[in-house]
Amino acid sequence: MERLKSNIRIIKQKRPINNSPNNINNYLKLIKGGDKVKKIILVFTLLFIVGVCFSAFAADAKYVGVTKCKMCNSTSKSGAQYKIWGKGSHANAFKTLASDAAKKTAAKAGVKGDPQKAAECLACHTTAYDPTTGKKRGDTASTLTMEEGVSCESCHGPGSVYKSKKNMKDHKLYLKTGGIMPNKELCVKCHNPKSPTYKAFDYEKRKKEIAHPTPKK
Ligand code: HEC
Ligand code: HEC
Ligand code: HEC
Repeated sequence: MERLKSNIRIIKQKRPINNSPNNINNYLKLIKGGDKVKKIILVFTLLFIVGVCFSAFAADAKYVGVTKCKMCNSTSKSGAQYKIWGKGSHANAFKTLASDAAKKTAAKAGVKGDPQKAAECLACHTTAYDPTTGKKRGDTASTLTMEEGVSCESCHGPGSVYKSKKNMKDHKLYLKTGGIMPNKELCVKCHNPKSPTYKAFDYEKRKKEIAHPTPKK
């Protein structure tokens, strides 16, 4: 009854003219309707809060650079991902742009100046650039270098949030905090005909060439 009264008070304040206080049925209808509206507002508020939390997560994640990944992915027990990556060509992708071959490729592609300074080349040759936009990333920490080339975070996503021990130990948490398990769609952001040296990309075959699994326990 107290609740009904307070609801009536609210409605009175909101709609002082249209509703005669004598007609209680009218009020009951309004309260029912009001509750529905309240429910809808509540649901939307909750959705909004959840949305804000998630976007805050994503916004907080920054590219931290390979020296941070190295700390936990160097031992053979972990699978020595850092060593395996370091021996592959992704780790040299930025250095490649200093070669004579790169200069020739750039000239052919109509790109002027030093390829190591050209966004047209850097787009796919270093983690510091986003291959989708072709621009330097905004969400980077000072520990990310151009020299590390196509490093862990190019494929696994920005690591500042998922890199903690707690998140790395639990695969679900890793995924929740922005960690990516790469797939073909990710590779072809760079392995596509926009590359001036494009070679047909067979995902299953190329994936084996860069494999760096965690040893099975
Ligand atoms: C950010 C861009 C980028 C992404 C994403 C990327 N690559 Fe690459 N990849 C490169 C570049 C650039 C090179 C050449 C590096 C060099 O020679 O200096 C390369 C080279 C390679 C090579 C060496 C063989 C060759 O033809 O030179 C393999 C294998 C490869 N990538 C596989 C993959 C796979 C598999 C994925 C997805 C899981 C992937 N790459 C994702 C940019 C990328
Ligand atoms: C769309 C992504 C992309 C862009 C843009 C790009 N590259 Fe590459 N680059 C690659 C990939 C991927 C490879 C690995 C070989 C392949 O499959 O194309 C590569 C390989 C190379 C190689 C190694 C030679 C070889 O055949 O493997 C050189 C040199 C090179 N790129 C120079 C450049 C230069 C110079 C530019 C700018 C004019 C440039 N790249 C722009 C993705 C790109
Ligand atoms: C060119 C893309 C690429 C780069 C660069 C890369 N990875 Fe990966 N990584 C992959 C792919 C593809 C897989 C396998 C995904 C699958 O099995 O579905 C993988 C899997 C992994 C796994 C999980 C292995 C397992 O068996 O569960 C770890 C850990 C890992 N990478 C760490 C690293 C670290 C650390 C670096 C940098 C030193 C790195 N990766 C660089 C593409 C990449």
